[in-house]
Amino acid sequence: MEMTFAMIKPNGVKSGLIGRILDRYTSARLSVVGLKLHQMTSEEARGFYAEHVNKPFFPELEAYMTKGPSVMIALAGENAIAAVRAINGATNPAKAEPGTLRYDFAPSMTENVVHSSDSPASAEREVAFWFKKEDLYEYEAASNKACT
Ligand code: PPS
Repeated sequence: MEMTFAMIKPNGVKSGLIGRILDRYTSARLSVVGLKLHQMTSEEARGFYAEHVNKPFFPELEAYMTKGPSVMIALAGENAIAAVRAINGATNPAKAEPGTLRYDFAPSMTENVVHSSDSPASAEREVAFWFKKEDLYEYEAASNKACT
């Protein structure tokens, strides 16, 4: 079991895509182990995107990420980090494969609808950035399709 962090960004929330995006993750047998709606502050944006703070695109990224609520998600499952990145598609939606969330829903590189951790180290940091330990619930996804 591996844990990763994913986020439905403000334009995904505003466009009513929360249910459809969560369905893509859970249909891939990933378990939602942490979940909350939260509007990022500028301070949080600078902390979460610390590696990008000095890049020219940061002001635009910060304005976008703080303009409305996002859905913060901790997901667990086999190869969860790679699985979620595959479902999301390339960071630049113009390069995303058909069938990925960014191909289907993202209008631009900044407003790219979803985020996910890119390594075990970033997954650990990002889950801990948004969730207290007591707000994470580990369990195994049921293997059958019927509700148990
Ligand atoms: S990079 O450029 O290699 O550092 O890109 P990456 O680490 O994949 O992610 C960059 C995040 O910043 C967001 N962003 C942009 N990146 C590049 N160029 C522009 N103009 C830009 N605007 C915003 C991009 O959406 C990535 O956000 P996350 O949340 O990681 O997907």
